[in-house]
Amino acid sequence: MALVTSRELFKKAYSGGYAIGGFNVNNMEIVQAITRAADELRSPVILQASAGARKYCSPVYLKKLVEAAAEDVDIPVVMHLDHGADFEICKDCIDYGFTSVMIDGSRFSFEENIALTRKVVEYAHDKGVVVEAELGKLAGIEDDVNVSDEDSSYTNPDDVEEFVSRTNVDSLAIAIGTSHGAFKYKPGQKPQLRFDILKACEERLPDFPIVLHGSSSVNREYVDIIRQYGGTLDDAIGIPEDMLREAAKSAVCKINIDTDIRLAMTAGVRKDLAEHPEHFDPRTYLGSGRQFVTDLVKHKIRDVLGSAGQA
Ligand code: G3H
Ligand code: 13P
Ligand code: ZN
Repeated sequence: MALVTSRELFKKAYSGGYAIGGFNVNNMEIVQAITRAADELRSPVILQASAGARKYCSPVYLKKLVEAAAEDVDIPVVMHLDHGADFEICKDCIDYGFTSVMIDGSRFSFEENIALTRKVVEYAHDKGVVVEAELGKLAGIEDDVNVSDEDSSYTNPDDVEEFVSRTNVDSLAIAIGTSHGAFKYKPGQKPQLRFDILKACEERLPDFPIVLHGSSSVNREYVDIIRQYGGTLDDAIGIPEDMLREAAKSAVCKINIDTDIRLAMTAGVRKDLAEHPEHFDPRTYLGSGRQFVTDLVKHKIRDVLGSAGQA
């Protein structure tokens, strides 16, 4: 199936009370694992590439991998730029065939964020591409940017209407307590999300798709396998899946997951190599990692996002 934008997918997700996974991709095994899991469960899927992913694969490999995946399966696949830092990278990706881009102006002032987002939206819409923006600032590590807890800030619901109407953006990522990476809460800290902020944003933006970044759950089973087979991973805590399940039923139409994929891939590779020290064919251990990611994505689609059967 050809690549699609998320416009119609989000309309269906909004009214159907489910969310679509924004899964980060970095190599062939991850692309295949995600799309094959989604295909098996008949779920639409968003494959997203960060600047780091583009650098690691090179843009041409990344694009061809995603195009190959879309051809390989019979479900709607969106090719999305994750955390576009400036107009140029968004323009590059739009010109290159991405069907969706994120312009992340969350580090700028409200007015600067609006001006930058509007510029990207004008360029993107002209080419039939949709745009995600961010208001509020998540804590955690993404690319080379590390936002400390003190510098993070929740989205102010009083800002969202003006932001969306002045930018004409297609979806909005908000900060309600999720954060990037594997260490979302300090030891002893109780995970919590500000559902009151989500509800207030939802009320001010009727029928409008909200996005949650930083939504990995750091599932215990993968952390335990990594530790069991010699990896170190201290006090990793993610967003509880029941909270994400609840969010998926609301105006949240896209939930971003990267760290959980990394953990699953690493657990699969470590387990394979530890249990089979004789393995040296990358197809065996990378194949195990790919199977772990496939199982993880199936679990997310079926038990967290609720998007199974919606393709
Ligand atoms: O939100 C950011 C993603 O986790 C991407 O991370 O820049 O290391 O690829 P990365
Ligand atoms: P995690 O680090 O929680 O997987 O978040 C990924 C993300 O938000 C990508 O944009
Ligand atoms: Zn993110």
